[in-house]
Formats: sequence, C-alpha cells, structure tokens
Amino acid sequence: MSSDSYYEEFSAKTRGSAELYGKAVNLTPYGVHSNWRIFEPYPLFMKRGRGSRIWDVDGNEYIDYNMAFGALGIGHSHPVLVEEMKRVIEDGTIFGFEAENSVKVAEVLTSRYGYDMVRFSTTGLEATLLAVRLARAFTGRKKILKFEGCFHGTHEPLMVSVKPSVYRAGHVKTPNPVPASLGMPEEFTNLVIAAPYGDLEATEKIMQRQGNEVAGIILEPIAMNMGVVIPSLGFLRGLRDLADEYNCVLIFDEVKTSGKFYRGVQEWCGVRGDIMVVAKSIAGGYPFSAVLSRREIFEVVGPNKTAHGGTFNSNPLSVTASYITLTKILTEENLKHSQQLSRELAKGYDDILSDAGLEYNISHIATSGTIYFTSRKINNWREFVKYNNFGRWYAWVMAMLRRGIIPQALGYDEQWTVSIQHSREDIDKTLEAMKEAVKEIKDISKQLAVEEVL
Ligand SMILES: Cc1ncc(COP(=O)(O)O)c(C=O)c1O
Repeated sequence: MSSDSYYEEFSAKTRGSAELYGKAVNLTPYGVHSNWRIFEPYPLFMKRGRGSRIWDVDGNEYIDYNMAFGALGIGHSHPVLVEEMKRVIEDGTIFGFEAENSVKVAEVLTSRYGYDMVRFSTTGLEATLLAVRLARAFTGRKKILKFEGCFHGTHEPLMVSVKPSVYRAGHVKTPNPVPASLGMPEEFTNLVIAAPYGDLEATEKIMQRQGNEVAGIILEPIAMNMGVVIPSLGFLRGLRDLADEYNCVLIFDEVKTSGKFYRGVQEWCGVRGDIMVVAKSIAGGYPFSAVLSRREIFEVVGPNKTAHGGTFNSNPLSVTASYITLTKILTEENLKHSQQLSRELAKGYDDILSDAGLEYNISHIATSGTIYFTSRKINNWREFVKYNNFGRWYAWVMAMLRRGIIPQALGYDEQWTVSIQHSREDIDKTLEAMKEAVKEIKDISKQLAVEEVL
C-alpha cells in the first residue's frame, strides 16, 4: 500500500476532524491548544469517551491506549466517579475556600506515598514548579540538575534539554543545557545543569564540579517522555547518595508514574525522593496535582517565605475526584489487573513483531510500554534519537488508527497506558489489529523514513 492510499483511507474515515481542523488552524496555531497534540495529517477531534473506548466526531470508535497522555489510568467516565461527580457539581464547582474533602485527600496521599505533608495544585507543571522553588528556598542555592530527555512541564525553569538537538547539546557525558523553547532568556537555561539519563558515573563527575551550587536534582525515575526508559536501580540509588552527599534535594517527578504503580516508582526501586510530584491518573481525569515532602521542607512555605497559591487549588471537583479515584477505583487490586493486561499486550506485540522479522524492542513496566523500532535497548535521549526508526513508528500508529486502535499517546516520545477498564477482549482485538498492521509497517516504513530524511 502506498503512503497516498494510506492517507486517503484515513482521510475518508475522518472527514469531520479534517473539517474542524480546517477551521481551527485559522484560529489556533496548528489547530490545537497543546503542542503535544500536533499530528500529521491533522489531529483527530473527539466527541465522547467511555470505559476503554473513545469516539471521534465522525463516530469512529477506538480502543484507547492514549488515555489522555496517561491521565486516565481508571479509563473514561468510570461509573463510580461519574455518579459521585454529578452530585458534587450540583453543590458548587469552586469555593475559594478549602473544600471539605481536601483533608481526606491529604491524608490518603501522605499515607499512600509515605510523606509528612502535601500541597495541591491543578496541573503537573504547577507542581514541578513548586518542587523546584521548594528546593531553592530550602537549600538557598540556585541550580537545578536535570536529565536530557526528561520533561517536567512547559515552564521556564525546566524547559531545558527536553528534546535537544545533539548538535546543540554537545558531548553525551557533559551535555550543554539547551533551551526547549523560543522566548526563554538564557538566564533560565544557565540555572540548569544537564546530565545524561541513566549514567551515574557522568552525573557524579558533573556533581563533583558543580554540586555545591545544586539546589535539587529532578528526574522522572522512570522516563516516560522518550518512550519508556527504565534506568538501573544503581542509577537511582546513586542519585539518592549524591543528593545526600551534596546536601541537595532529590525530586521525583511522578506526574505520569504515580498512577501507574500503587505507591509510585519507589514501590519498584526502593529509593525515595525528598520531594515527590504526583498528578495525572490520581484524580481520575480531573485537573489535580500535588507536591509531597517532609515537614522540614514544607516549613519554608508561607507568607513572606515561599510563595504557593492558585485560585483553582483544592477545588471541590478535583479533590473529590481524587478522593474517589484513590480510595475506590485506583486500588492496588485494580492496578494489578491493568498491569497484568499491559504485560499481556507487551508479550503479544513481542510475539507478532518477532514473527514478522522486524527490528524492534519493547520497553514495558507497570501499566505502560512502548515499541522502539530498533533492536537496540534505549537508555537515554541520545540513543533514542539515534536508533529509533520514527518512520516505522509513524507507519505503525497510522496502521493501528485505521483499524480502530489508538495504540499509545500520539507522540513519538510517548507510550501506551492500559487502564483498569480495559478488558482481555480489548487486548485480543488489539493484537488482531497488530497482526494486520505489521504487514503494512514492513511495506510502508521505507517510504516514510525516506520522506523524513528528505
Ligand atoms: C513527567 C511529567 N512531568 C510534568 C508534566 C506536566 O504536566 P502538565 O501537562 O499537567 O502540566 C508532564 C506532562 O506530561 C510529565 O509527563
């Protein structure tokens, strides 16, 4: 099948999205309100979600493994949450006071993740912003060490070395900090020290030179903005030791992972951050995030001390959604179910791709995974851009989309999320589609790869 007929088939099924995009693109850059949603030939516009399924404006039904970029670990419109939220909405959506349930949510979060205190915000970026500010206020130092390829939200302090061009980033062991956006005065970039993900030795050397200026080391303890990069336990333990040695703060950004493991990544690695940032799935699809830490660190917060505020913080919708999600839906048992299905999905893809003789490697943990179209294991950003065959990745996504499967969040650096509402039939249907899709991937990927290079 040629790439022309491939687009034609997609376009014939998604005329409503094309029409909306045609209007949107004159009103909004790229027709979307988040750069991560830009998609070729155009983004899909959605109308409805229920359980493991989502429907676009043309009525096409998809099994959804995007799950709102991993914010829907409980699936779409979970009936228990829907029932409760109908009642909550009738009683008001925002008070400008603490909502009654905020205390219960604080209790649940601090006990589930094992910290003394917590502050709520609404999005992931607001929470990582507070985490960095706390680290600076607590240590009285300025610099933040972050890892190439990790993403912590679109704000100046951390929009550095997110997806840097290797030509600007310099040597793999001693990367230059590279701004990830126009409009970033270099002063912001200069406050960041970039390090190679997963490489403890290189990080130690960087800290030997600049460790005394470092307020905090921030990372995704399992990196989910370059597929799924699972570091060694030694790397995470070593960072804990480094933070202790240099008396700076270790920040685990678990915006994505806090809802994929029952107690976050610490459950898997046994290493704890001084500050933990949680968001996305923990509120069942409502905007809610939180920063957790010890009492000593939170003592810097307050009037004439460290600022933190927000009109929408602790609104009754978000806190109640979080309370219901954490206590009744995203339970340890339900998470085990989605983790098991995710393993089965990974195993099924593995069998199909290996029979097809394609170069690939699947990275999978908890409820998420990704297919890298290279036989090499990917350990960091440099290897991700060097070895992954993005043409083949795109061909796979399009082949699955046309068969009614959204196989993962639609960014080349993303992953799938299996929710607790996915079923074994969903996995079976997905693998049936995959058997068909691989035939196309083989045919078409060469053309797309060439187009990309050109
Ligand atoms: C690890 C991580 N941190 C922070 C963020 C920012 O979250 P938000 O998009 O809610 O601002 C994201 C978003 O995907 C993320 O993946």
